[in-house]
Amino acid sequence: MQKNNLIKKEAYVNGKWVSARSGKTFEVNNPATGALIASIPDMNREDVRAAIDAANESWHSYRDLTANERAGLLKKWYALILENKEELANLMTIESGKVLQESIGEVEYGASFVEWFAEEAKRTYGDVIPAPTNDKRIVVIKQSIGVVAALTPWNFPLAMITRKVAPALAAGSPVVVKPPSETPLTALALAHLAEKAGFPPGVYNTVTTTESSEVGKELCENRKVRKLSFTGSTQVGKILMSQCSSTLKKLSLELGGNAPFIVFDDADVDAAVKGAIAAKFRNSGQTCVCVNRFFAQDKIYEEFVAKLTSAVAGLKVGNGLDSDVQIGPLISAKGLNKVKQHVEDAVAKGAVLREGGKEMSGLFYQPTVLADATADMIIAQEEVFGPVAPVFRFSTEEEVIKMANDTEYGLAAYFYTKDVSRCWRVAEALESGMVGINEGLISNAVAPFGGVKQSGIGREGSKYGMDYFMEIKYLCFGGIK
Ligand code: SIN
Repeated sequence: MQKNNLIKKEAYVNGKWVSARSGKTFEVNNPATGALIASIPDMNREDVRAAIDAANESWHSYRDLTANERAGLLKKWYALILENKEELANLMTIESGKVLQESIGEVEYGASFVEWFAEEAKRTYGDVIPAPTNDKRIVVIKQSIGVVAALTPWNFPLAMITRKVAPALAAGSPVVVKPPSETPLTALALAHLAEKAGFPPGVYNTVTTTESSEVGKELCENRKVRKLSFTGSTQVGKILMSQCSSTLKKLSLELGGNAPFIVFDDADVDAAVKGAIAAKFRNSGQTCVCVNRFFAQDKIYEEFVAKLTSAVAGLKVGNGLDSDVQIGPLISAKGLNKVKQHVEDAVAKGAVLREGGKEMSGLFYQPTVLADATADMIIAQEEVFGPVAPVFRFSTEEEVIKMANDTEYGLAAYFYTKDVSRCWRVAEALESGMVGINEGLISNAVAPFGGVKQSGIGREGSKYGMDYFMEIKYLCFGGIK
């Protein structure tokens, strides 16, 4: 049963719940049913400027709190997120279509970043460096970077906010969060819990809008924003990067992927299929680290395809609120059309449909397996972002490394083998920021998340994550006798 206590219908700026200055609103709908959930403020550039001003005003007093005090606020926020786990998960499912079990998992995953960075707040150590002459002492300190803009995606409505905002707040940097128009309600619920946790007015702001380009431009070009962190497509990441050049803003970009998943002849095929289901069908295939291309070696090709097909045939599709459903709807008609186009193109170019391959009602698409995929298919180069698993064939390790790296992206990669030497060789040869070795689920708060090539810049989470929200300052003490 859906409770509505966390559904907020206003944006959160400077410690107040506000409407758009223009009075405009937009509707948020459930992608599984099309039903209206709420109408919320459709803010513009002027509204976001007010949020940036408020964040900037709060910066000095907030950064002057002790690390322990900031950690305390984060811990309260963490506890409140977990206390409201069921309700947050329900809300996430109705606005994003994500199945309930995964939404619950995302609340826990998202909360783990808050807990992690509450702890890290107290460990932003500097350095003492041996000086080149005896009359000097050299010290390095780390300081809060200033106002942070967090632009987040619809596929992880909660965790992509906490993965950016928790390190910023831990470092003493106020935030302006701009969630996507598809899933702003989870973002507003998080803002509500941050307010309850006691963050001072102006430190935590959330602006809602359908005018992403205009609002994004302000966040990029406004001098008071010192750092912008974005998760989304490579195409939008490039636009933001060029807009940020006018203010030389520090940037973290978590962008698209084209993850390979390699199954070698010596792999445990059953374990590989289990990993494949987790790495491909999580969130109906709509994550940046989802497998886009499966590669199976000659000897186990048929066995892998047959076992994958039977596992995929068992996946239940439906409304994410039903407890036994594993695959929810796609987020939009645009997303659905892309999936259809990729499958049609692959089949026209010789792929064999082993399972699925059809649109269902509304925004649902059958979980699909395509055998005999080849490099000339669109799906070999573009992220499908849906429940479609194309399987390519390969003969040698050297060949598959070339195939896996033959993409402009480099976010996640996965492979299965029992050979320890091969584990090292292949892990080192793959051009990607993260590698799962005999493992399909790699995301967690303690590990650095991020990509190489056109998959982005910077890392989130882990002991490295705080540094992206801080500046290093070097102090040179002279005249020491
Ligand atoms: C993403 O798809 O952007 C994030 C996925 C994750 O954190 O596992």
